[in-house]
Amino acid sequence: MKIIRAKDYTEMSRKAANIISAQVIMKPNCVLGLATGGTPLGTYAQLIEWYRKGDLDFAEVTTVNLDEYRGISKENPQSYWYFMHQNFFNHINIQPAHVHLPDGANLDAQAVCEGYDSVIHELGGIDLQLLGLGRDGHIGFNEPNVAFELGTHCVELTESTIEANKRFFESKEDVPREAYTMGIKSIMQARKILMVVNGADKADIVKKAFFGPVTPEVPASILQMHPDFILVLDQEAAAQI
Ligand code: F6R
Repeated sequence: MKIIRAKDYTEMSRKAANIISAQVIMKPNCVLGLATGGTPLGTYAQLIEWYRKGDLDFAEVTTVNLDEYRGISKENPQSYWYFMHQNFFNHINIQPAHVHLPDGANLDAQAVCEGYDSVIHELGGIDLQLLGLGRDGHIGFNEPNVAFELGTHCVELTESTIEANKRFFESKEDVPREAYTMGIKSIMQARKILMVVNGADKADIVKKAFFGPVTPEVPASILQMHPDFILVLDQEAAAQI
């Protein structure tokens, strides 16, 4: 595990974007695993800026996102498909056919999950997986006590995740109750993992996840075992380590 400290959110985002840029420059046809949520937004904004300057080219890049709500179509502004297009894909030269997210509109969980694992497999696996960190230690929608050996699967969202995600919806009742997510196994198979974490409200979980025991109670703790895991933190998130 490599820890990179940044003074604030902007610096954290720039450092993370630097690592992603290096990946894209070294392997222009790489497979990037991407995340939604608030934390990576600055990273995406920085990558867009460098793309606009002509320093980055996404023409050959393929992406696979971590997760998607179940029972939501991609046209729905609350879908992760929509989020990724609004905040990243619409602003770079990625080919639409190179963008992958689980199909939230398809309620056949088995077909979606098996299909998604096959896509990742056929792409030759993920070169770099970007992650955020949930306040309860979740990664993707892998909530506490998830089995580490799962590939893509369908989950029921926990109360704390529904509570955290309601800021993106009109009301808490509008937050979908289920999601498709890559499993811990899928994430751990990525060749490189990059996690971004900021803010004082994540300081406790950062200490627990990366300086405590590896346990399914804290799903992110498994990342301690990954051979190429980089954690980029701002000062507030690093306050207890
Ligand atoms: C996003 C995802 C989630 C978030 C996590 C942190 O695709 O899978 O695990 O990374 O909930 O979210 P933020 O960054 O909003 O604190």
